[in-house]
Amino acid sequence: MSIVADNPATARQGQLLEQANSYLAGGGLGLFVLPPEVNMVIAEGHGSHVRTVAGQDMVDYHLGSGPDLLGHAHPDVVAAVQRQVPLGSTYYFLNEPAIRLAEQLVKAIPCADAVHYTGSGTEATFFAMRLARAATGRSKILKFEGGWHGMNDYALWGTVPSAPSAYPQAEPDSVGIPDALRGQVLVAPFNDTERAISIIEQHAAELAGVIVEPLERVLVPEPGFLDELRDTTSRHGIVLIFDEVVTGFRIAWGGAQEKYGVLPDVATYGKAMSGGYPMAAIAGRTEVMRYLDARRTEWSQLVWASGTLNGNPVSASAGLAALEVLARPGTYDRLHQIGGRLRRELKALGAAHGLAVQTPGEDAVFGVRFTEREQLRTWEDLLTADKSLGFRWAIELIKRGILVNPNEKFYISTVHSDEDVDRTLQAADEAFAEVARSRQVR
Ligand SMILES: Cc1ncc(COP(=O)(O)O)c(C=O)c1O
Repeated sequence: MSIVADNPATARQGQLLEQANSYLAGGGLGLFVLPPEVNMVIAEGHGSHVRTVAGQDMVDYHLGSGPDLLGHAHPDVVAAVQRQVPLGSTYYFLNEPAIRLAEQLVKAIPCADAVHYTGSGTEATFFAMRLARAATGRSKILKFEGGWHGMNDYALWGTVPSAPSAYPQAEPDSVGIPDALRGQVLVAPFNDTERAISIIEQHAAELAGVIVEPLERVLVPEPGFLDELRDTTSRHGIVLIFDEVVTGFRIAWGGAQEKYGVLPDVATYGKAMSGGYPMAAIAGRTEVMRYLDARRTEWSQLVWASGTLNGNPVSASAGLAALEVLARPGTYDRLHQIGGRLRRELKALGAAHGLAVQTPGEDAVFGVRFTEREQLRTWEDLLTADKSLGFRWAIELIKRGILVNPNEKFYISTVHSDEDVDRTLQAADEAFAEVARSRQVR
């Protein structure tokens, strides 16, 4: 297809999209690619906005899928990175930014006696599960239906089932997962305390770890659910892993552990911890982290968890600067105030158009789901949402300069303004009108 556009910027974007289609597997960078009518290439991001190569200004609620909690190119983060870059990009050996960031992480994360860096959240959960096996001498892992722990072979079970699972049996989400792992990963229903605890107790003798997103995507834990997980895993000597890749430094300074008041043995971090630069980590109690420590553990008992870019000084410098900004008084109040307003007003706007819209989650990260079900507690509840309506609504938003990932989450930054929210609500109003109209026509 040749590019026909009167505007050189639009033509340039069209040309780049053609190249992306030719040279990138699937034409994109991950699982999801925007449909052609709204597909675009981002040229730059500043604060809560991005600008496309075609010149469209967009209010960004995807924020790099969460890492840009301070918005794009925060001046303090940029300055820290610029100070580090001329000093070298990576060393593998100890460096000051990585050491200082580790100290900050241990101080901020309630369950942390020590941290271990990894390159991505996928690696962090992968190694955390390996740690649990080392610490217990057992092999199985229990996760929750609908819980997202990245792309490793142990994480991709029961992540997005289209029907309720046959607990505790899980189905792989992707092709290419070894069949030998069937039965090694069990699933339980999130927020169904009685059933989850009963599954854990039945399989306790084989379970190395229980891994949970404490805020499962957009599902807030019911009071007592995480406490019961904590009690039961402690009683049976099972390692409790909180996956805080999304919640860490986002829903509170001390993440979900602080917000919900339950401490795991190990937690995984990524996204917001390094100011939008690539880095992740495992944090945990000495009893478990010692399996990563060659000074305390015989070589034959050691968990291998190396990575070429672990503790990268550029990412660590960005992380240090980002945490310094986040620690300022009022930061989280502002985040909650902006996100809270959006959640309330989006729901009300949907209702004004005759659409049952729910905005489950926390103010700093939430979903917009088209469903009559008011109480969204479990994965089964989320399955009641009309995904095609959600998708069409999101595409209408994108057309109007509001960047979201359809049927996923709204990530709020500390720099989204009231004007951004006003503009978003105006676009959302039009988008609701459009989908309500198309629903009547069908
Ligand atoms: C809760 C959670 N854990 C782990 C991951 C994987 O992190 P990464 O994409 O850095 O591998 C993600 C990614 O979205 C996530 O949401």
